[in-house]
Amino acid sequence: MIRRMHCLPGATRGPGSGDKGHQPSGPAARGRYGPSEHSAPPTRRAWRHFPALLLGIASLALPARAGQAAMSRPGAACEACHPGLGEAYLHGPHRVAGIACEACHGPTAAHEANPSKTNIRWFGKGAPGNPNAVCLSCHAQSGPIQNWMSSPHRRAGLQCADCHNLHQDRALPPSRAAENRLCLRCHQEQGAAGHLPYHHPVLENKMTCLDCHDPHGGPAGNGLRAESINQLCYKCHAEFQGPYTYQHSPVNENCLTCHKVHGSVNRWMLNVAQPALCLQCHSGHHDGTNIPLLDPCTSCHSSIHGSDIPSATGGSVFIDKGLQ
Ligand code: HEC
Ligand code: HEC
Ligand code: HEC
Ligand code: HEC
Ligand code: HEC
Ligand code: HEC
Ligand code: HEC
Ligand code: HEC
Ligand code: HEC
Ligand code: HEC
Repeated sequence: MIRRMHCLPGATRGPGSGDKGHQPSGPAARGRYGPSEHSAPPTRRAWRHFPALLLGIASLALPARAGQAAMSRPGAACEACHPGLGEAYLHGPHRVAGIACEACHGPTAAHEANPSKTNIRWFGKGAPGNPNAVCLSCHAQSGPIQNWMSSPHRRAGLQCADCHNLHQDRALPPSRAAENRLCLRCHQEQGAAGHLPYHHPVLENKMTCLDCHDPHGGPAGNGLRAESINQLCYKCHAEFQGPYTYQHSPVNENCLTCHKVHGSVNRWMLNVAQPALCLQCHSGHHDGTNIPLLDPCTSCHSSIHGSDIPSATGGSVFIDKGLQ
């Protein structure tokens, strides 16, 4: 019995391979790296004033403090007691944008006079107030952050600072491997699924969790980078989108009716191995003659995701021409 593959020419498959860092690649990357308010390229003329503009924005966002302008650089006054912090911050994106310590940590005069954790805004576990509000005061309109209010991570009480280190050269994970490590720190279950024999090549770092998930929430209120599960799959498996003359209804409803997305013990990442998969919804086979039931149903019904080929009796049984 001939086994048919569904590989169509020109199908768009996921992102490129390798640990390429933050190079946008593949269709899923488009949404992630779209222009944001902050990154919109300024015109040549405006560019000269850009740092000054940002400084202006930053100082608007924080209560102006006398003497601040006299500091040699942000954090100089803090380093006596917090050694090293200013140095690391120096190369980070906020410093490069001209943002002072006070933009995040609030007014510091009282703290410098009488240092204590109670007179400075701090972040991390147990931090008082709503630490994320500070970040959102500047980032609420940044591209992907717009969905934060409805995101699962916000509901779970995560802080921006759980994932972003503002005191390093880079506030973003520097590579695909680092992106995956970040997520796997808290999501061991999906990491374990990735070790099953059939899986998306995430742990190989050819893909990352971020190809499918936006940690700041997705357009549908879940963490997916698409309006629905199927729309997400079609981004990389466009060959299954059709439209087909004859559709297999569970396929159009939800790919996850048959597939496990993070990994499975079954070939093709199926939830359940064949033929049991199909026998959940269909009764045992029609004529029974000479067909061992253990044969994968798709060795005949090979275009199971949809077909343009009708059967002799009308409709379609998702069998390619060659077999009928
Ligand atoms: C005279 C020493 C001193 C100076 C100057 C100083 N701090 Fe502090 N800072 C402290 C002490 C002491 C604490 C309390 C540490 C604790 O309770 O764990 C602290 C705590 C903090 C914390 C909270 C730390 C945490 O655990 O999250 C932040 C944030 C902070 N300082 C920022 C600053 C900033 C910004 C400046 C400069 C504008 C500054 N500090 C200047 C001594 C100082
Ligand atoms: C863009 C926001 C932001 C700016 C600007 C910022 N910080 Fe922080 N800072 C944070 C966050 C968030 C944390 C919590 C730990 C982390 O994510 O690194 C933190 C932690 C700290 C801590 C406590 C952690 C520790 O290791 O002791 C100190 C002290 C501190 N910052 C000082 C400074 C100083 C000094 C500056 C200016 C040179 C500054 N911060 C600028 C956001 C900021
Ligand atoms: C005063 C405004 C302001 C505040 C407050 C602020 N940011 Fe930013 N942030 C900026 C600007 C400006 C940039 C640089 C331009 C850009 O990349 O969007 C930036 C960049 C970033 C980046 C992108 C870095 C990159 O490499 O592309 C991250 C992540 C980020 N901020 C997170 C945070 C977090 C988390 C907080 C709160 C702890 C915070 N920011 C607070 C203005 C701010
Ligand atoms: C669960 C981890 C996580 C949390 C929580 C999180 N982020 Fe992010 N953030 C990331 C990762 C990973 C990236 C880089 C990948 C991407 O672009 O989505 C990123 C990217 C960003 C960027 C750069 C976006 C761009 O396209 O230039 C900004 C700005 C940012 N985050 C701000 C925030 C703010 C503000 C919060 C809190 C309201 C927050 N993040 C919460 C993980 C997180
Ligand atoms: C600091 C811990 C932490 C980190 C880091 C983290 N998450 Fe989460 N995440 C959670 C918690 C807690 C929840 C809510 C409880 C749950 O569903 O597991 C959650 C929920 C989710 C959900 C939604 C689950 C649902 O039920 O709808 C997705 C998707 C997700 N995280 C993806 C990611 C991705 C992708 C990353 C890496 C960028 C990441 N997480 C990093 C803690 C974390
Ligand atoms: C090929 C796309 C894809 C990749 C890659 C991916 N996920 Fe998912 N993930 C999904 C889909 C689809 C769902 C189901 C969402 C739903 O049912 O609403 C999901 C659900 C989740 C959930 C909710 C609980 C669950 O298992 O259903 C978490 C948490 C999660 N993913 C974390 C991760 C982490 C961490 C990684 C990286 C190790 C990752 N995902 C990689 C597509 C993906
Ligand atoms: C960001 C791109 C991307 C997205 C989104 C995506 N996939 Fe994939 N998918 C891949 C890549 C890459 C492979 C591995 C292909 C290979 O190894 O040749 C793969 C493999 C598979 C396989 C296994 C094929 C095999 O050889 O075993 C199945 C089944 C699958 N994907 C289903 C899904 C489903 C269902 C969704 C939606 C929930 C989805 N994919 C979303 C990129 C993606
Ligand atoms: C009714 C169950 C079912 C549903 C629903 C389903 N699939 Fe499949 N899928 C299968 C079976 C069975 C195979 C194995 C095909 C074979 O044996 O040749 C498969 C194989 C695959 C493969 C790997 C083989 C290949 O041709 O590349 C991908 C990728 C895939 N499916 C994606 C999807 C996507 C995307 C969706 C949603 C649009 C989806 N599937 C919905 C049953 C299903
Ligand atoms: C979640 C339930 C479900 C699963 C699992 C499922 N199907 Fe279906 N299938 C349907 C539905 C619903 C129809 C449409 C029934 C109709 O139109 O009478 C259908 C139609 C069909 C048809 C056309 C039937 C006809 O009478 O024309 C064939 C053939 C078929 N499926 C084969 C399979 C095979 C092979 C598998 C396993 C790879 C499978 N199905 C898995 C629900 C399912
Ligand atoms: C040897 C090839 C072959 C295998 C293996 C096979 N089928 Fe079929 N199937 C057919 C053909 C040919 C038809 C069309 C029969 C007709 O029109 O009378 C058909 C028709 C069907 C139909 C349409 C309704 C009906 O009974 O005529 C369903 C549903 C179906 N098969 C499900 C399955 C399932 C489930 C499996 C796996 C347990 C399976 N088939 C395995 C060849 C096969």
